[in-house]
Amino acid sequence: MSIIDDLTNIAGDLQKKATLELSMEEVLDLKESFFGKKGKINEVMKNIRFASNEEKPLVGKKVNELKQKYLASLDEKIKTLEKAKLNEQLMNQRIDITLPGRRVSFGDLHPIRKAEYELVQICESMGFSVATGPIIEDMFHNFEALNIPETHPSRDMHDTFYLANDKVLRTHTSSVQIRYMQNNRPPIKIVAPGQVFRSDQDRTHSPMFHQLEGLYINHNVTLPELKYALERILKQFFNDDFPIRYRSSYFPFTEPSFEVDVKFSSTGEWMEVLGAGMVHRNVLRSVDLDPDTYTGFAFGLGIDRLAMLKYGISDIRAFYENDIRFLRQGK
Ligand code: FA5
Repeated sequence: MSIIDDLTNIAGDLQKKATLELSMEEVLDLKESFFGKKGKINEVMKNIRFASNEEKPLVGKKVNELKQKYLASLDEKIKTLEKAKLNEQLMNQRIDITLPGRRVSFGDLHPIRKAEYELVQICESMGFSVATGPIIEDMFHNFEALNIPETHPSRDMHDTFYLANDKVLRTHTSSVQIRYMQNNRPPIKIVAPGQVFRSDQDRTHSPMFHQLEGLYINHNVTLPELKYALERILKQFFNDDFPIRYRSSYFPFTEPSFEVDVKFSSTGEWMEVLGAGMVHRNVLRSVDLDPDTYTGFAFGLGIDRLAMLKYGISDIRAFYENDIRFLRQGK
């Protein structure tokens, strides 16, 4: 048999196989077995030296034809199969956009913390900066420097939690006033938010609660400025909605002193939310400020009470029971 005959047989063989429905593996095998290094065509070509001179160009031509016709079509098949495989992979990974989304559960701030941040933000917008002090206090900062000597009956008013070594859990944030004035000279304009503690418990009293202290010391500070500041804070916090009233009162560390009540919209009940007044001369003296040179105002807001009013909560204890259903309502 001549080489040409061999090649013709190969062509017939290829023709048959190339039209079959083949898998990727089978196509690759087919390509290798005919066109690979050790493939049938190369095997036949090894005998080219036995071909006559007339036959040689015909052999070349035939091989080229084979390559052109079948190699190209096998490559085409491989490409098509690759594409089909990729498509199948993509289909498997397809995202079903009609499925409902997965719920992401975000935490949220406690309502007391929300109220605190909001109040601090309002005060900062009015030029107050934020100061802090320790929760465990000494007698001097919690009482004496605030014009509450040991024998003073108002110490009893505070239902103090006493600790060892003459320390107390601070009963109010007014102690931060003293610490701040000891370390800073006027003009002073600060607010001090924080936890305070009293042995006290009912619908409007919690043994641990939160106050926001305010202190402004400068030359010629007046009572109308205090009223203006308080009204602005309350109006912004309540969006103007809640009626307020003033009541004259007594605090050893302010003179004159008053309290502010806010009306509960649901029950019409008045609730005391803050104490305030002009800083007492003795307080200024206790931190070495001359009361003839400086005057000031101070206030102490009950943050929990303001949050109760704003969120319509009638029992302060709800804030501290950690009932997740209650806490979720604020979201
Ligand atoms: C004081 O604590 C003063 N230090 C406030 C002050 C500061 C007056 C600066 C003058 C100048 P009082 O004991 O009234 O005052 O408390 C202030 C506010 O804290 C009250 O109006 C109330 O809103 C809140 N409060 C008091 N006790 C409790 C409690 N047990 N639970 C929740 N809130 C309370």
